[in-house]
Amino acid sequence: MLPDLFSFGVMQDHEADELNDWAKKEGWNPGLSDQIVARQFDREAFIALRKNNELVGGGSIISYDGLYGFMGLFIMRVDYRGQGLGAKLWCYRRDRLIGRLQSTAAIGMDGVFNMAPFYARGGFSLAHRDLRYEGIAKGYKSSEVRVLNNIPFETLDAYDKKHFPVPRSAFIKAWISQPGVMGYAIFKHDHLVGYGVARPCHQGYKIGPLFADSTDIAESILSSLLAEIKGEKVQIDIPEPNQSALKLATNFGLVESFGCARMYRGNVNPVPIKNIYSVTSYEFG
Ligand SMILES: CC(C)(COP(=O)(O)OP(=O)(O)OC[C@H]1O[C@@H](n2cnc3c(N)ncnc32)[C@H](O)[C@@H]1OP(=O)(O)O)[C@@H](O)C(=O)NCCC(=O)NCCS
Repeated sequence: MLPDLFSFGVMQDHEADELNDWAKKEGWNPGLSDQIVARQFDREAFIALRKNNELVGGGSIISYDGLYGFMGLFIMRVDYRGQGLGAKLWCYRRDRLIGRLQSTAAIGMDGVFNMAPFYARGGFSLAHRDLRYEGIAKGYKSSEVRVLNNIPFETLDAYDKKHFPVPRSAFIKAWISQPGVMGYAIFKHDHLVGYGVARPCHQGYKIGPLFADSTDIAESILSSLLAEIKGEKVQIDIPEPNQSALKLATNFGLVESFGCARMYRGNVNPVPIKNIYSVTSYEFG
């Protein structure tokens, strides 16, 4: 039960913008168009906690066509923290998302480490850590890469499906078409063997996703993206079990700066983590 004057609802545009501003203040460095892509894909993905008509907390609960959910961007306005309201908002979001998913669908999240015990009490189990590496971009352009825009979307989509728990064609199509996105793919013997994108963020760029069949392929794609954004701040979010990916980031001069606990509720479809050199985002999986 919420106290008087408080209510939950689907966010309006200006509220989603405000949540995005709070995310900037938290230092999460959201992508310039991430929120727009997510909301166009799932109109009910962003949930507001309001007092009267004022936004006091929020978070996302994206549903991938009812097959998989992801919770992110959980933030309370600073002056409303520590009063038990965040817990109410989180439980409401979790239950609302469960209600929008098929009964067997899993939910994922990347939570800050100190909140992991709270999420565990809410039914989530730790899978691994996703570590953020960052630095100033520098790399060389590989002769192997092809610009993502020039390859058939169906080919990319088929490859993406092998690296995400459920198909997300419409989402990934919009994600790689964001303004300012740069993307590269590599083919071997006419087969796509890796792709990655860099997108403009509040500060600099983030890489994500970066999927590849081998570290050499990931290196060529990452290096080409870093060459493209040379001199800019860059961040990449790497599943810790992929030690080759951590080493690759280190080789490009990037250092660990932040991290999250990847947690799941339910049985998530397995993905080949050794081929995941960067998750798509901490917010949407
Ligand atoms: C996390 C946040 C949304 C919680 O909102 P809140 O209204 O302060 O939360 P509540 O008072 O309802 O407390 C909820 C739970 O979170 C825990 N918690 C809150 N802040 C915490 C912190 N900094 N470290 C560890 N636990 C914390 C509380 O102990 C409580 O757990 P309990 O009910 O089992 O005791 C709020 O602190 C916030 O906006 N923080 C900055 C953004 C952030 O880190 N979001 C989480 C991303 S995964």
